[in-house]
Amino acid sequence: MQIVLLFIGAYLLGSISFSYMITKGMKKGDIRKLGSGNAGATNTLRVIGVGPAICVLLLDGLKGMIPVWAALAMQYNMTAAIAAGAMSIIGHNWPVYYGFKGGKGVATTIGVFVVASFIPALIAGFFVILIIAATRFVSLGSIVFMILTPVLMFILKTIPTEAALFASLIGVLSIWRHRTNISRLLKGNERKIGH
Ligand code: G3P
Repeated sequence: MQIVLLFIGAYLLGSISFSYMITKGMKKGDIRKLGSGNAGATNTLRVIGVGPAICVLLLDGLKGMIPVWAALAMQYNMTAAIAAGAMSIIGHNWPVYYGFKGGKGVATTIGVFVVASFIPALIAGFFVILIIAATRFVSLGSIVFMILTPVLMFILKTIPTEAALFASLIGVLSIWRHRTNISRLLKGNERKIGH
């Protein structure tokens, strides 16, 4: 019963859209109708600027961290903890408060991975920063992070195999949410940051 309540709480927490609230609060309109249309930190950067984007990144990241921390504090195993984090990601992507139209779950997934398995997330994050700096495609960096972090979890065996498998599923979910970005990357017309 406790885990069900944790999952519901994680979904409701994940459903809070900081990019939506900050963009609305700054009288810029609905972020889902601006820029790329994605309710996330990258689009906040595009639509408003660096400061608000960093706030969204950190707050959306916390949405992923809190359920994992909570599950581990409640003595659940790592797979259950990552599942709790996944509920927050689902809330972010399909938020109950905003007509189920949310983001791609990148920052929230980063939060889940950082708490679940810090070293793989840190190593992947290092490469992702290099990729984004070199290409200015945040979507490409996000996709690499979603692949590399679970792969490193398996290689470094930082968490049990079944937990790493669950983390891989979360990565696949985010990659699937990037399908329009992937199509634009392949066609050569993906949006760059810093333009
Ligand atoms: O945060 C999601 C990022 O990977 C891509 O965002 O707005 O360029 O679709 P966007």
